[in-house]
Formats: sequence, structure tokens, C-alpha cells
Amino acid sequence: MKITVTSEDIAKLPIDAVIVNLFEGVKRPGGATGAVDKALGGAIAKLIAQGETTGKNGETTLIHTLGRIKPRRVLVVGLGNQKELTLDTIRSVTGVACRYLRKLGAKRAATIVHGAGAGGISPEEAAQAITEGSILGLYTFQRHMTKNRDEGELEELQIVEMDKGKIPALKRGVSRGKIIADAVILARDMVNEPANFMTPSDIADIAKKVAKENDIDIEVLEKRDMEKLGMGALLGVAQGSDQPPKFIILHYRGDKGNDAQNIGIVGKGVTFDSGGISLKPSDGMAEMKGDMAGGASVIATLKAISQLKPKVNVTGLIPTAENLPSGSAQKPGDVVKALNGKTIEVDNTDAEGRLLLADALSYGRKLGLSAMIDIATLTGAIRVALGTHCTGAFTNNQKMVGQLEKSGEKTGERIWQMPMFEEYKEQNKSDVADIKNVGGRLGGAITAAQFLAEFSEDTPWVHLDIAGTSMTNKEKGYLVKGATGTPVRALVDFILSQAQS
Ligand code: BES
Ligand code: ZN
Ligand code: ZN
Repeated sequence: MKITVTSEDIAKLPIDAVIVNLFEGVKRPGGATGAVDKALGGAIAKLIAQGETTGKNGETTLIHTLGRIKPRRVLVVGLGNQKELTLDTIRSVTGVACRYLRKLGAKRAATIVHGAGAGGISPEEAAQAITEGSILGLYTFQRHMTKNRDEGELEELQIVEMDKGKIPALKRGVSRGKIIADAVILARDMVNEPANFMTPSDIADIAKKVAKENDIDIEVLEKRDMEKLGMGALLGVAQGSDQPPKFIILHYRGDKGNDAQNIGIVGKGVTFDSGGISLKPSDGMAEMKGDMAGGASVIATLKAISQLKPKVNVTGLIPTAENLPSGSAQKPGDVVKALNGKTIEVDNTDAEGRLLLADALSYGRKLGLSAMIDIATLTGAIRVALGTHCTGAFTNNQKMVGQLEKSGEKTGERIWQMPMFEEYKEQNKSDVADIKNVGGRLGGAITAAQFLAEFSEDTPWVHLDIAGTSMTNKEKGYLVKGATGTPVRALVDFILSQAQS
């Protein structure tokens, strides 16, 4: 879809539809919506008076203009309470409006800049939110369908602003929004892709392509390299599969003189998690094609960052393997040695993510990264604890998690901190090795995080458990069924904030 920014009278555009907005409780719309209302002879005000249009968050009212103004239709979207307006509301209503218009067969639409008037949001941020909301809300994954859906495409969205002075800021917002939304789409595509199309080798190929097209250095460690280094935890997971594991290292060097700052982002890349010998039940197992969402988010974040070019160094690490049962698979009770020399009793082969991350976090420490954030679909337990509305965060560094929470709030990819009390460590004690990879049913997301803490050691670190947020089975705002792309936008925002401070 093409997104443009223009300065003209929206009521004079010969176009399929224009999107205007309304806050809850407003009787006579003002600003750009007011101008359209006036041109329509007060049609919107009438609908408000009749109680048909209320401005409730996410509400849509379609008005056929029947020749009274140039646009064929006006879609009024509700923004809810004016005092509660957020960027995420703008993203969401834009996503809903664009899908609505696509269903109607609209090809070209225009929108006013939601929030930038009475909403008090900066034009640049509003335009970024509109861009993200439209691209992400219209996202579909149809690669494997031999017939296209009936719906056509919304081909163009024109962002219209009367005040010429705001145009440069709006354009900046659109270009940033495009970069970020395109990166999120890369992550969604990778997660939605079935496991037979998204093996560790496929992930490495995508990472190479992204690196080549952008200002990113890449190195891919092969199985023999990992053996030499002593990545026994990752190799143990991979040994049940015919697919060779890969360890992907990406470097974005935006601040070359500053070796002291290098933020690591580390993503779990299990391309299919059958559970291994501790086999999962078949109901819902197909969802485990998405167990590489953390790894996908790392590649996508680096892609966006390398295009936004902040003055900061970022290293991406993606340990990737397939977790399958076979004659060569690791067995419950096996003991493996991680890269940092610690021995692990593999009590349950389905707790494989933390094994991959043990080696990746150890590798990050060897590189001397100044901070690490790992992103992983790590535990079913985080879903039980938090549901699907926020990502669980665990840390040894309060400042860092605070900054991530802020980025999560701003981007609508909410992050909620979980406890890391010492007492939980007890559950990971092994009788035969330094640690074991499961800590029992109670507090499962926390004991998983305590396990990881043994490998991030004293590097400032945040673990993000995205098992509840990486996929959704409901269309909502700018999210559609399937992969969400979480937490790419939050990570990009966090990294940009690190460059500024
Ligand atoms: N990939 C799963 C976690 C998961 C569950 C992700 C549901 C997305 C949706 C992970 O590898 C796993 O199997 N975890 C086990 C750990 C247990 C064996 C300690 C779990 O959560 O059941
Ligand atoms: Zn598992
Ligand atoms: Zn897993």
C-alpha cells in the first residue's frame, strides 16, 4: 500500500472514502471532521443527535455521500474519551478503518491526522501511528493459498492535513512508521510460516539477506563451530533433528567509536517445538511452528534499526534449532555442558528454549555486551500468569526494565515485570549437575527466568517471555489472527531511546 501526505481540502478529493474521527461526548464535531460535517450539511452532527454515532473507541459509522462531496464515502471512527487518547488508539482505529474499507472494495482512501488536533499528539507521532496501524491492520498471510481471497487491496492511503506547516513532520512520521511496520511484517511472516518452510537454515538465509540489504554484519556459526566452542546445551536440543542448527550473530554498528556500549538482543529460535522425547500432546502442537518468534523479532528489530540509523551499537544473537524426538534425540536425565562451563541436567526435553538461551547468553557475555535482552516464547506458565495482553519481564536491572516498560506502553506492546526472588532458585537444583532445566509446576515462568539468570550472570539483563503475546487468535485493532510481531516495535523504541540518552 502506498501512503502519501498531502495538503488539500479533504472534501474535494475524488476518492473511494475519507476517514474522519470523533471523540466520545462531542455533539458538534470540530477541526477536519467538522469541515467534512459542514460540507455534508451537518450529517455527522445529526447522526450524533440521533444517538447512532457516539464516538466510542473503535466505533465505525459509514456515510454514503451520494454526490454531496467528492469522496464517495465518509467513515467516522470513534476515538473514545479525549483525555484517554493514546498512540495505540490511533493505530487501532486506523487498522479497523482500513480493513473495513478494504471489505467494501475501496482502493483509494484518505484520512485526517487523528489526534494531532484536539488530541494533543504531535503530528509526527500521529502520522507514524497511522502508518503502522494501516500497514499492520491490513496484513494478511496468503503465501500458501493457490487462490487469492475475494477482497481486493486498499492500494493507497492519503494522509491529508490543511496546515502546510505540518507536512514535513507528517512525512517524517510516515517514513519512520513504514520502516517499523515493514520490519514487524517480516517478523509476522517468519512466525506464520509453517515449520517446513522455516527451518534453522531458512532463518539463517533470511538473516543473511537482511544483513546484505542493510548496514549489518553477519556471522553464522555451523554445528562444527558450536562443537568447537562447547555449546553443549544448544547442540543437545538440535541432536534429535535432521535439520542442522545455526547460531546467527548480527552486528549493527551505529556508534563505532564507543565500544563500551553494545546492546545485545537474543532471540529463541526453535523452528518447531514438538517437546522432543518429553513429547507434547498433539492438540495445538501446530502452534509450535511459532517457537522462533523471539529470533524473528531480533532479525526484524535489527532491520528497522539499521534503516533508522541511531547512534548506538546493537548485536543480535539467534540460537536456532528444531526440537524433535528421534533415535538420536537427547533424553530426560541427560547432562549437557553449556558454553560457560556450567552443567545442566535435562530433566524435561520440552524445556528446550532455556537450553538454547543458556549458550546464547553465555556467548553474549563472551562478546562483552554491555546489556542483554532476551526474547523467547519460553513458558506456558507466563500465559497462565498474565494471559495474552502483556509480555512478562524478568530482570537483574531495574532501570533497564523500567525503560523497556516505557517503550512497551508507548508502542502498545505492554510489558509487565515479574518477581525474581532468590527463593525460586531452589526449585532448579539438580542432584547430578550444577542446575536442572525445569523447576516444577509452581511459578514456572519465574524458575525459567532464574535458570537464564545463571547464564546472563552480572550483565544487565532483561528476559521477555512472549509465549502469551507472540500470536493471537482474534482480530483486534491493528492485530490480525496469527503472529503479532511483538515486541519488535517496543525493542526499536527502546534502542532509539538508548541512542538519545
Ligand atoms: N515453547 C514452549 C512454551 C510455549 C507454550 C510457547 C505455549 C508458546 C505457547 C516451551 O519450550 C515449553 O515447552 N515450555 C514448557 C516448560 C516445561 C516443560 C517446564 C511449558 O511451558 O510447558
Ligand atoms: Zn518446549
Ligand atoms: Zn519451546
